[in-house]
Amino acid sequence: MGDLAFAAAMSHAPGIAAFTDKAPEQQRRGFLDAAAAVGALLDASKPDAIVFVAPDHFTNFFVDRMPAFCVGINDDYEGPVEKWLGMPKGRVPGAPDLAAHLLEAAMDSGFDPAFSRGLKLEHSVMVPMSLIRPQRDIPIVWIMVNCQVAPMPSLRRCYEFGRVLRKTIGLRPERVAVIATGGLSHAPGAAEANRLDPEFDREFLAMLASETPTSMLDIPLSRLDQAGFGSWEIRPWAVVLGATEGRPAQTLSYAPIEAWQTGCAVSVFS
Ligand SMILES: [Fe+2]
Repeated sequence: MGDLAFAAAMSHAPGIAAFTDKAPEQQRRGFLDAAAAVGALLDASKPDAIVFVAPDHFTNFFVDRMPAFCVGINDDYEGPVEKWLGMPKGRVPGAPDLAAHLLEAAMDSGFDPAFSRGLKLEHSVMVPMSLIRPQRDIPIVWIMVNCQVAPMPSLRRCYEFGRVLRKTIGLRPERVAVIATGGLSHAPGAAEANRLDPEFDREFLAMLASETPTSMLDIPLSRLDQAGFGSWEIRPWAVVLGATEGRPAQTLSYAPIEAWQTGCAVSVFS
């Protein structure tokens, strides 16, 4: 039987990599040290595969075809596509057997996710990976969750998808780690891009750390809109919460980092 080796969630703002030094020292160190701690915990958990649950920012999908969920069945992935991130482009091994098993389990559980053998990686996966596993040597599956264009899957639907993921992991021979990426409050490219919502971010993280982390599934979508459209990216966090069967998550680091235009958090699930 496989096991859920490790579960964590973190922000993936491109500024973390593209303009790292613009953030004040204390904020920068807080985030990067927490990400390094996640990398150490990930390493110690000895995963055979990592499932990244993350949105796509119109790299692979646009409004002409936008699935709620897409499971990457790539043999390997190329990326990042964004040269301006300042990180080397390369290949990351895929885990197509694990991905195919997840697809079958999803279909058997009332989900109909899209799948793709040709996903290209972008900052949503590559920025976190550059911090927690820069060697890029552990096979990955990218589960893309639509966090960009309405209608998007509900938080509860994301949670239930995560439970299917957990069930699948339990049937696998590998040890699998899951990493959610996205959020928290931000609105990149918008007029209000420099106006973050630390109140929302802290409330969200407090819910996750509480005895009832699934209370985050009841956050009204209107509240997400207030926190900026980047907060729609808490959906991957809901998927990973489902994969842990609703375990609390400890916040290792949080700061509203205006220089990176994002409320930046790093959390580890118990
Ligand atoms: Fe994003």
